[in-house]
Amino acid sequence: MIVAPSLLSADFSRIEDEAKRCGKAGADWLHIDVMDGRFVPNKTDFSPAVVACIRKASKLFLDVHLMVEKPEKLVDGYAEAGADIISFHLEAAENPAALVRKIHALGKKAGVSIKPATPVGKIPRQLLRECDLFVVMAVEPGKGGQAFMPEMLPKIRLLRTLRPSAYVEVDGGINAETAKKCVAAGASILVAGTYLFRSADMAAAIEALRA
Ligand code: DX5
Ligand code: ZN
Repeated sequence: MIVAPSLLSADFSRIEDEAKRCGKAGADWLHIDVMDGRFVPNKTDFSPAVVACIRKASKLFLDVHLMVEKPEKLVDGYAEAGADIISFHLEAAENPAALVRKIHALGKKAGVSIKPATPVGKIPRQLLRECDLFVVMAVEPGKGGQAFMPEMLPKIRLLRTLRPSAYVEVDGGINAETAKKCVAAGASILVAGTYLFRSADMAAAIEALRA
């Protein structure tokens, strides 16, 4: 089980220390939410320059989640900044298969993310075959601290059946309770923001997600 704290809930004024804190607490990946104020109402300050600073501060695998319009324009910058995996929203990409190939050509793993209203069936076959990662949003993308939508569990199950060897990530509303259900459904990566950053003891909270 891979635990990926979402830096969206971290203290942005000391983001490098926050990245290090996640590593010390036993996190496997760092999840970085890029929002443009168009695909989602909010905007975040995770520019490629900031991601490059995080890259220097931490050895953890960097999982960049693009919640933006025209993701094809941003992947070069994040690849260069040191992202290990770049995921984009199926709803936002003009040619998702071409974008996956582009991310692979940059030497990075590629992921596709689907909003709660998007069924797994909307993912084109080629993408199902070629993506390394599938991100099931269990909340509306755009902000942390929302309630987990249990209706998303069958999507995790279906993706796990369709691509047994791929990463299936669940993003939004993860805590010790919802994590259990997601893992039972076949999730291999748990993204958690509020739950981990609001806990008094992040290491214990990460352990609770793994348990
Ligand atoms: C939401 C982001 C999530 C967010 C999750 O749009 O994609 O990664 O940080 O936050 P929590 O864990 O608070 O639901
Ligand atoms: Zn995210």
